[in-house]
Amino acid sequence: MRYLVTAALPYANGPLHIGHIAGCYLPADIYVRYLRLINEDVKFICGSDEHGVPITIKARNEGVTPQQVVDKYHSIMKNSFAEFGISFDIYSRTTNKVHHETAQAFFKKLYDDKVFTEEITEQYYDEEVKQFLADRYIEGTCPRCGFARAYGDQCENCGSSLNPTDLINPVSKLSGKAPVLRKTKNWFLPLNKFEKDLKKWIGSHQEDWKVNVYGQCMSWLNTGLQPRAMTRDLDWGVKVPLPDTEGKVLDVWFDAPIGYISATKELFEKEAGGRKQEAGENKLAIGSGQLAKEKKEEENKTSEQLSETTPLSFGEGQGGEVWEQYWKQQPNPKDNPKLIHFIGKDNIVFHCLIFPAMLNAHGDYVLPTNVPANEFLNLEGDKISTSRNWAVWLHEYLIDFKDKQDVLRYVLCATAPETKDNDFTWRDFQARNNNELVAVFGNFVNRTLVLTQKYFEGKVPPHHKLTDADQECISAIQAAKRNISDSIEKFRFREALNELMTLARVGNKYLADTEPWKVYKTDPQRVETILYIALEITAYLAALCEPFLPHTSASLYTMLNLEKLNWAKDLKGQILKPGHVMGEVKLLFEKIEDEMIEKQVDKLHASKEVNAIQEAGSRKQEAVGNKVDKITKDDSLSLGEGKVSYDDFSKMDLRVATIIAAEKVEKADKLLKLTLDTGIDQRTVVSGIALHYKPEEIIGQRVTLLANLAPRKIRGIESKGMILMAENEKGELCFIAPTKDFANGSGIS
Ligand code: 2FM
Ligand code: ZN
Repeated sequence: MRYLVTAALPYANGPLHIGHIAGCYLPADIYVRYLRLINEDVKFICGSDEHGVPITIKARNEGVTPQQVVDKYHSIMKNSFAEFGISFDIYSRTTNKVHHETAQAFFKKLYDDKVFTEEITEQYYDEEVKQFLADRYIEGTCPRCGFARAYGDQCENCGSSLNPTDLINPVSKLSGKAPVLRKTKNWFLPLNKFEKDLKKWIGSHQEDWKVNVYGQCMSWLNTGLQPRAMTRDLDWGVKVPLPDTEGKVLDVWFDAPIGYISATKELFEKEAGGRKQEAGENKLAIGSGQLAKEKKEEENKTSEQLSETTPLSFGEGQGGEVWEQYWKQQPNPKDNPKLIHFIGKDNIVFHCLIFPAMLNAHGDYVLPTNVPANEFLNLEGDKISTSRNWAVWLHEYLIDFKDKQDVLRYVLCATAPETKDNDFTWRDFQARNNNELVAVFGNFVNRTLVLTQKYFEGKVPPHHKLTDADQECISAIQAAKRNISDSIEKFRFREALNELMTLARVGNKYLADTEPWKVYKTDPQRVETILYIALEITAYLAALCEPFLPHTSASLYTMLNLEKLNWAKDLKGQILKPGHVMGEVKLLFEKIEDEMIEKQVDKLHASKEVNAIQEAGSRKQEAVGNKVDKITKDDSLSLGEGKVSYDDFSKMDLRVATIIAAEKVEKADKLLKLTLDTGIDQRTVVSGIALHYKPEEIIGQRVTLLANLAPRKIRGIESKGMILMAENEKGELCFIAPTKDFANGSGIS
């Protein structure tokens, strides 16, 4: 059977966190590794999703180009995936030439076939910067709750989803001016026309798709589908391939899923030897021999390099034949490839309704066989959030827990949000490592191998007459293989992992019950059989753990001195031959101490503190937006609830100071580390003004300092005090400075 497995293309506007991994990439990798082990013909496709408005916003905020943003995160993500052992056949990117050509050709075919409707709508336009405004570029007052800084598509205060025209007093985030409505033409996919076919097709998957996925699709279908714009007025993305469409690009949700197709084309171009593979070009170090071999085979040259060195055009229908065998309907339907999309639940509508409608409209593509979407993973009881830095970042984990990729793979699989949202906690991570990987799996394997060294010089002993207990172990081995396969085929990866651990538990109990270390003195022959059985379990564990714990599997194969086993061919009966010489024994897992966990928990708490500062800032802003014109003299003078007494005010030590140095705080978009001359000392203050001021602009700036604020650690930096800023209703900030040249340290009262 031929399989094309995709994992959602992550947006290249931030690094990967554990929510991404648990939601989509780890289950996909387990599935693909399993398919390879049973000899299926499978290609595993992914890449960076490099278009869309959030990337342009990030670029503006950081004062760089969108291309610089995506280059940075594409490389971080690609490296993290590789180091974590996500075994894509290709990790491509949508800024690639092949992708632009493929997406344009796809669009053009639907356009020529008159699939789209042309619609003229009124969109907000910024006359100063001469640009139509994407929803996120417009802010205004929420008509539902009065929040002053609601976005054009959503109010983050009350959660309402909005249209830009719903906002009261809309303001362009580009110029700060009120935008005007202007007519513009775009092309829409009339999803309503596909509704009947989609309903029939989704309905046929009631039994084999996950309940959460099927349910969400039916709910969308029952609400009724609306036409959706497939082009946007934006200058970052795949250009619309029609005349007179300057300033228009394909909607990111039109181009991104086509990225799976373009990456497949690119993969086959590479496999066909379209360019020279440089030996040893893989730069990523990896602990184990087996994986190092896998890595060598992996393609590491960037996609841009490929487009530069490949003279072929990849336009629709010109990419050769092979990729089509993984995407297109075949003359005999039984040869059709199986297309499986691994995604998170927020992507269901795009992969189960919109992309299938596009593929269907195009004509000759297969539709997905399954879309096993996961729910969300939370972190320590709170939603994972990039903007609030409430996340465990994969690239940081890989530094802090070097060579412990499989511990995270294990924990994220054991707690995967397969049927409902789930929670990751560092304490659970530690407990699962110490009580399961170390105490069960590692302990069993280590005892078996060490005893074999001790009693039989590291050679597999022969076996003799089998007892019932021995037979039970042999049955457990075959049951484990069957059950793991069944569960993986049903996309139940937690269940499959549990079956693997059941086999390790059986082994552990077998050694505890048979006590070879005691029996050896009286009956060494019996010990030969016991260790033979234990070694067989170990060899099966090495093979069966590969989809979940590939690094562990590779180490175990090295210790057993075995080549990687194929599940279909090699896992039928006895693996080890008596007399086979083992390799060197090493520890598979090590205990994780409290200290390491506390460090991680502290790191998260530091994020909480930064968030508290930032949230306080937004609350202040909200108050300004809502109440600035309502404050009366009486209000401001009356002492009541929420008012500050004179005594309280007089406790604040406010002083004039000067910024003498400023730098960005690493991995914190909004923070600057300032050094202030206060007249009495030089001190560090961390301030949330990085989106408003560049460090070099503010050297020499006079400021007002709240000097006796209790010091607090922010991102590991001790901050002593707070500088006061004025903020207007647009969210702009300015310093509060003395109007005469007063010395640093002058008191403010
Ligand atoms: O949600 C996301 O991160 C999207 N970038 C996923 C795109 S999946 C596919 F369509 F490419
Ligand atoms: Zn609101």
